[in-house]
Formats: sequence, C-alpha cells, structure tokens
Amino acid sequence: MAVEIKSEREIELMREAGRILALTHEELKKAVRPGISTGELDKIGEEFIRSQGCIPSFLNYNGYPASVCISVNDEVVHGIPSFKRILQDGDIVSLDCGVIYKGYHSDSARTYGVGSISPEAEKLIEVTKQSFFEGFKAARAGAHISDISIAVYDYIKTRGYSSVRDLVGHGVGAHLHEDPEVPNFPTGRKGVKLRPGMTIAVEPMINIGGFEVEWLDDEWTVVTRDGSLSAHYENTILITDGEPEILSRAEGIEL
Ligand code: MF3
Ligand code: CO
Repeated sequence: MAVEIKSEREIELMREAGRILALTHEELKKAVRPGISTGELDKIGEEFIRSQGCIPSFLNYNGYPASVCISVNDEVVHGIPSFKRILQDGDIVSLDCGVIYKGYHSDSARTYGVGSISPEAEKLIEVTKQSFFEGFKAARAGAHISDISIAVYDYIKTRGYSSVRDLVGHGVGAHLHEDPEVPNFPTGRKGVKLRPGMTIAVEPMINIGGFEVEWLDDEWTVVTRDGSLSAHYENTILITDGEPEILSRAEGIEL
C-alpha cells in the first residue's frame, strides 16, 4: 500500500493527540513505584486519556483488553495489565500507549526503572532510548526506511545488545498501524523513500541477550526467549523538509 502524506490539518490533529499522549505518559511515570499493580497503571492511563476527550487506541484493538501495554523485565511488548501483577523494587517496566484525537492516532512507549534498579538495567534503558534518537536523526526526506533501521541497529549492536526482529515500527495516522514497516535491524531492503508529511512510529525493542522472542499463552505478551531483560522506547514522528519532528511530545515534559 502507498505510504500516506498527511495534510497540515491531519498533522495538527496528530500533534494534539501526541501532546495528550505525552501528558498521559507523565501521569503514568508519576505512578510507577514498587507495590503498584499493572492493572492500576492501566486504569490511570485510561482515565487520563478519557478526561482529555480522547480514546485509548489500544483498547479492543484486535481484541487487546486494555489501554496501556505494560511489559515487565523479560516481557518485550504487549504485556496485559493485571491487578495481580505487582511491580517490585528492581523491576523495569515498559509502558506503551496510544490515543485517538478526532480520528488521529499517536503512539509512544517508555521504559522506567521501579525503585532502584541494577546498573545493567539502567544502561539498557538508556541505550534503548538513545537508539530511538539515532533512528530519529536519520529520518530525513530523501533518506530511506533502511537508514533509520541501520542507525538504530548500529547504535545498539556496538554496545552489545540485540534488536527484536519479529516486531517493527510502522506508519501511523488515521489508523494505529499503517505502511510502511519500520524495522530496527537491517533487512537488506531500502524500504520506501522518506518524504515530508509522512508520519511514522519508530520503536526500538532492545534485549540484553538474544534477539529471539516468543509469545505467551495469553497470545499477547511477547517475552525474550532467553529470559533476558528487554526495553522499549517509541515516539510518533513527522518527516519534514528539514529536521524530523516528534509529534508525541508536550511542552515542558521530558521525552
Ligand atoms: N503499541 C503497539 C505498537 O507500537 C501496538 C499495540 S497494539 C495492542 O505498535 F493491541 F497491543 F494494543
Ligand atoms: Co507502535
């Protein structure tokens, strides 16, 4: 399918969706602490999104049962929140969330430490976040999707990590998932040429151990095959004729 070029009006709606999503993440970040359940975090996210007049994109998406994907430690993505899953001191937790504002989506993810975490976990979170920014810098008109993929991959590989291959970033707009796919590893294909007005979610999923993942019996939760820690960091971005722009951000809120 052809990759859409968004109009200025669509981009404005995506900026507003992204602003509310950034505020949602801020609420979630404040709530992360040892003793809270992932079910409670999901409710905090859902209530905040609705309080802003938005709809949680993930709820009921292909039957997904919650508003925030919450993935702990060796869970990579799509963990299902539960009131029985209590965060412990030393855990790392990835919070992936999406909002719809007037029909337009924004999608972003953050990984946080719970209480005090190991230096290894700290480093994984930091490298995963920076790998997004390496991909982001490569996301310029005239470059190709592969330039993003390679920038992310080279950054994490030289630091000894691996990049999940079974899940990829994606176009985003009136739908949560649009073309093109945005892999976080070299595929041997250049992919589409980037043009101003394209909006994509760049989302490295980075493991301390091997890249292999598997699905739990709940059919959603993706875990590392070797049980190693995994981190996720994602923003919705806009290709422009200059620097790319992060759409999932809000003034005064840390990325
Ligand atoms: N946030 C995921 C992504 O980045 C999508 C989650 S879909 C859900 O593409 F159904 F699990 F919510
Ligand atoms: Co995404």
